[in-house]
Amino acid sequence: MPIPEYTEPGAAVRYHPPVGEPTTIVAALRWGDGLELLDQRALPQRERWVPIAGVAAAVRAIRTLTVRGAPAIGLTAAYALAAEARRDPGLARLRRVARRLATARPTAADLAHAVAAVMAAVETAPAPERFDAALAAARRLHAADAAACLAIGRHGAALFPGQPVALLTHCNAGALATGGIGTALGIVRALHAEGRLARLYACEARPVLQGARLTAWEALRDGIPVTLLADSAAASLLASGAVGGVVVGADRIAADGAVANKVGTYALALAAARHRVPFVVAAPTTTFDLACPSGREIPIEQRGGDEVRRVRRVAMAPAGVDVYNPAFDVTPPELVTAIVSQRGVARPVTAATVRGIA
Ligand code: MRU
Repeated sequence: MPIPEYTEPGAAVRYHPPVGEPTTIVAALRWGDGLELLDQRALPQRERWVPIAGVAAAVRAIRTLTVRGAPAIGLTAAYALAAEARRDPGLARLRRVARRLATARPTAADLAHAVAAVMAAVETAPAPERFDAALAAARRLHAADAAACLAIGRHGAALFPGQPVALLTHCNAGALATGGIGTALGIVRALHAEGRLARLYACEARPVLQGARLTAWEALRDGIPVTLLADSAAASLLASGAVGGVVVGADRIAADGAVANKVGTYALALAAARHRVPFVVAAPTTTFDLACPSGREIPIEQRGGDEVRRVRRVAMAPAGVDVYNPAFDVTPPELVTAIVSQRGVARPVTAATVRGIA
């Protein structure tokens, strides 16, 4: 497939990518003397960091998409538990709030995983040490996710050897969704650092527009050449031959390799298969749920109708019109060319290869 050469519109010089380690200047969350989140509802217009005092605020932030993306909501829950242990280290209460955090959103496996990891550290610590134990566990999860993103980037970039390649992504599986350089965008960043990314195409991801508001913002901030498209333009882009691969993240990967990710991912996988474009899913091991036998058992979050009826506060549809608004869909394993985790690559995608990288 010919790789289109990219020239900035109106620019005299061709785009020259940097060469080096994949990196980012974007972060979703930080801990100074407490948890702070970059308010993703305000992006791209405003960069606003909001302090998260305790579990109630963290649950609200996760539900309202102040923070979103499977690994990032897991890390938010982990740090929120630490904050709560500082306020009151009582075990019965911590167990109660841990359950609230773990169920703040139903689809991402990372959320329950992070809460369980912090609680395992808390349960074995005496009361005066519970805050330190919880914070250390949250920091370990954060560092592990950052390292996982780098490894995913390396493994994923190796799936596209040779000439520069243009990739298509959906939603935001970048630094804003993780504790590192991103999963799908980890692959994009690794290729970019090697000078082998021709272009990133980003679907806007209606209805919440994580692609338009977040991926486009994140890519521009980090100097990644990006083109935004309406979701409905993706099939014709794939048919045009301009794209050498689709890379997406995941919220939960079942034992058979079925992938839950942002709604619209399944349609992309169908179109990619029709046009023989490799469809690659990137996720850390915290996203795998081997106890979930297939895609049928993955709980899919249904969200409020106003996300579809409106864009921010502006009505796009008659008030009160009935709305279908699943936040995620499930792509069956036979449409997935490869799944990449920090442990390696599952290709072809079968129960055995998925188990090997989970
Ligand atoms: O509803 P969101 O924005 O939390 O959905 C996020 C996604 O679907 C991401 O692709 C997924 O969480 C992977 S993030 C590395």
